[in-house]
Amino acid sequence: MVRTVGVVGLGYVGLPLAVAFAREGCEVIAVDIDARKVEAVNAGRSYIEDVSAEELAEVAERIHATTRYERLADAEAVLLCVPTPLTRNREPELGSLIDAVRALAGVLRAEQLVVLESTTYPGTTRERVAPLLEESGMTAGRDFHLAFSPERVDPGRTDFTLRTTPKVLGGLTEACAERAEALYRLVCDQIVRVSSPEAAELTKLLENIFRSVNIALVNELAMLTDRMGIDIWEVVDAAATKPYGFMRFEPGPGMGGHCMPVDPFYLSWRAREFDMTTEFIELAGKINQQMPYHCVAKAQRALNDIGMSVKGARVAIIGVSYKPGVGDVRESPALKIIALLRELGAQVVYHDPHVPALTEMALTSVPLEQALADADLALIVTAHPSVDHELVARRARLVVDLRGVTRASSTENVVRL
Ligand SMILES: NC(=O)c1ccc[n+]([C@@H]2O[C@H](COP(=O)([O-])OP(=O)(O)OC[C@H]3O[C@@H](n4cnc5c(N)ncnc54)[C@H](O)[C@@H]3O)[C@@H](O)[C@H]2O)c1
Repeated sequence: MVRTVGVVGLGYVGLPLAVAFAREGCEVIAVDIDARKVEAVNAGRSYIEDVSAEELAEVAERIHATTRYERLADAEAVLLCVPTPLTRNREPELGSLIDAVRALAGVLRAEQLVVLESTTYPGTTRERVAPLLEESGMTAGRDFHLAFSPERVDPGRTDFTLRTTPKVLGGLTEACAERAEALYRLVCDQIVRVSSPEAAELTKLLENIFRSVNIALVNELAMLTDRMGIDIWEVVDAAATKPYGFMRFEPGPGMGGHCMPVDPFYLSWRAREFDMTTEFIELAGKINQQMPYHCVAKAQRALNDIGMSVKGARVAIIGVSYKPGVGDVRESPALKIIALLRELGAQVVYHDPHVPALTEMALTSVPLEQALADADLALIVTAHPSVDHELVARRARLVVDLRGVTRASSTENVVRL
């Protein structure tokens, strides 16, 4: 039987998911409000690193991208992968989700399965999504099925894929979970069913909060070891030799991306309704937000040590995306670092093979050798595997390495976080 699956939101989560179902022989109705993405998908052009042009081409005839929700009436299941960011006040911004659900409610058919994949607070599926879909006149769990299943992709990662990463899901009813499980079995080897959408929603948040808190812990230690004159990388390396009871987390310039700096606050916002303050989340957020300031202070001291001020210094930022191997600059600490350096009067250029331009900052990536030749300081903010950091350490006059990638080179011009 040929199955038809709808995917709403063709971003980092939605496009790989659409390709995965198409690869299993499903027809995929792929909806996005961004006409450029729709056009790109239909033309076989991928704009997501994890989906190669070849992969997209292989399944192109089965992915039907459109801006029109009406096409979803043909799908037996619709997966919602729209953004769930924060407002300026760090509160959940569910505008895209609500727009998407409203539009879906207008075309929803009996017997369809709807699964929310976007990261959100516990209660969203039942309290926000279900009532809006029920404006169709149908009842969730009876006339149509509804579940939550968080996306766990880690963009740029190749050792774990959608297929090999267990998929957590919670249905509004047992039958909803059954339906969702049967669907995801097509693209995932292992399904982890939990008892409710709320448990699935919180599972995703726990995973991200766990990372955020542990990164904050090691970042706080990095600020302390800076004062103590101890090398944090040496300490982390040594602690990581313990075969049990320790998990390695790396210090760095702060957290970026669409998930880590955002998702934990979905829970702290929800917790307030239950008269709880989630101290770990707030504290981790506070420490991680401090890191760009600490890193700029570190760069300032390094320049000072060679008799230079930040004002007028030519600084080459090496790597501006939020993590290695991807071109995503959302919430990237590099943006904050560039802004802070500019405020202090530095002349900033950058090199990033994954980010051709930072339009809002009126910058374009310059070739590495040129960036190094012209700079007073090379600041390694994101360590892409394709960049030769040993070359950076050898060529640059002064290097501040915020990622510990120059540990093998003992040149005197290198200062590490
Ligand atoms: N990026 C990740 O690594 C990752 C990992 C796990 C979970 N998530 C979660 O998945 C969700 C999606 O994230 P993403 O990174 O794919 O976002 P994205 O911004 O890359 O993609 C979202 C897409 O949704 C589209 N969209 C917005 N409103 C829409 C609407 N009303 N109807 C149709 N399309 C609409 C946008 O145009 C965009 O193409 C978020 O909740 C995020 O937290 C992301």
